Amino acid sequence: MEKQAFLVAGGAGFIGSNFLNHMTPRHPDILFINLDDLTYAGNLANLKSIESHDNYSFIKGDIGNRELVQHLFEKFNITHVVNFAAESHVDRSILDPQIFLKTNVLGTQVLLDTAVAHWKKNPDAQNNCRFLQISTDEVYGSLGDRGYFREDSPLAPNSPYSASKASADLMVRAYHHTFNLPTLITRCSNNYGPFQFPEKLIPLLISNALQDKEIPVYGDGKNIRDWIFVLDHCRALEVVLQKAAPGTIYNIGGSNEWQNIEIVKFILKKLNKPESLIKFVKDRPGHDRRYAIDAAKISRELNWEPEFSFEKGIECTIDWYLSNEAWLETVHSASYRRYYEKMYSQRDT
Ligand code: NAD
Ligand code: TYD
Repeated sequence: MEKQAFLVAGGAGFIGSNFLNHMTPRHPDILFINLDDLTYAGNLANLKSIESHDNYSFIKGDIGNRELVQHLFEKFNITHVVNFAAESHVDRSILDPQIFLKTNVLGTQVLLDTAVAHWKKNPDAQNNCRFLQISTDEVYGSLGDRGYFREDSPLAPNSPYSASKASADLMVRAYHHTFNLPTLITRCSNNYGPFQFPEKLIPLLISNALQDKEIPVYGDGKNIRDWIFVLDHCRALEVVLQKAAPGTIYNIGGSNEWQNIEIVKFILKKLNKPESLIKFVKDRPGHDRRYAIDAAKISRELNWEPEFSFEKGIECTIDWYLSNEAWLETVHSASYRRYYEKMYSQRDT
């Protein structure tokens, strides 16, 4: 079999870096090329443990840079694309949707076009090549009190972020249908774990609580998310890449629904911090009420199950943030503070 070369786009972000840290030592026969533009969310410090591995290389660049992407496909004879690269935060997409379309939709299209052109030359691409689009349960929109998202649920995204991810999913679907590109799509629920930028709920709340700062809870705090430890997500992606048939979509989730306010209280208790740090703030516009994933298909077809209980995953996550305060300080840069000042000046009433 020809040597596999993975183009991992967005590998310096939260999930991408956990994926590379998981995969690189476990698959010494695969070459991993990390293409990341190092936006505010990308951080090479996340990849310290693998940066000297022979089967890993980092390239700084934009997935929308067609010449660069074509060059990488040629140079490394890319057989797999794993596309994590994205603008990923709903609140930012409300402030400024433009970059979400540029990266999440047009950037994905460049990866798709290049894969079509390159893999046309590979007579066994259906067996040897895969384009894995890392998507999200948010493309399905919002649930009421009951029901679950299934792979065949209609796409009904509500935020500019989720609309851009759904658009990318539809392009991936179209490239499979039209050009026979061997694509895969995974739609995962909310992740938490090491290396998550402290703008998302769990790292924000750990980081603020450690500094005795207020924890903003949007609206009534009763919105529900379905949480999964990031390593369980990465193990699911590994099995999808190894076993899934082209054109397949898999939901990934940990059957672990929590109201935001309950999570905040749970983590404050773990950190031995008072609930008086909680501050209810103005709700996010268009805030989705409930996400809940039905992950029966990946369990049945690929034999994947999450391994971390929420309690265990949260303990690992808290331990990691406690032992990596220097990491938190580096990401608390001036640009990050400016963004927060802007965002909370709009919200905090
Ligand atoms: P993240 O924001 O932590 O990381 C995104 C990475 O993409 C960063 O390293 C950034 O530098 C890079 N990037 C951004 N624009 C780029 C561009 N134009 N070219 C190259 N690199 C670029 O995001 P994350 O939380 O790790 O999410 C990764 C993927 O998983 C995203 O596609 C997201 O939609 C999806 N997802 C996330 C979650 C979650 O809970 N975080 C859940 C389901 C799906
Ligand atoms: P977030 O981590 O931004 O993920 P997503 O919006 O993609 O689900 O938010 C998770 C939930 O927490 C969501 O219901 C919004 C809420 N939230 C707060 O209440 N306060 C906060 O400071 C943040 C960042 C989120």
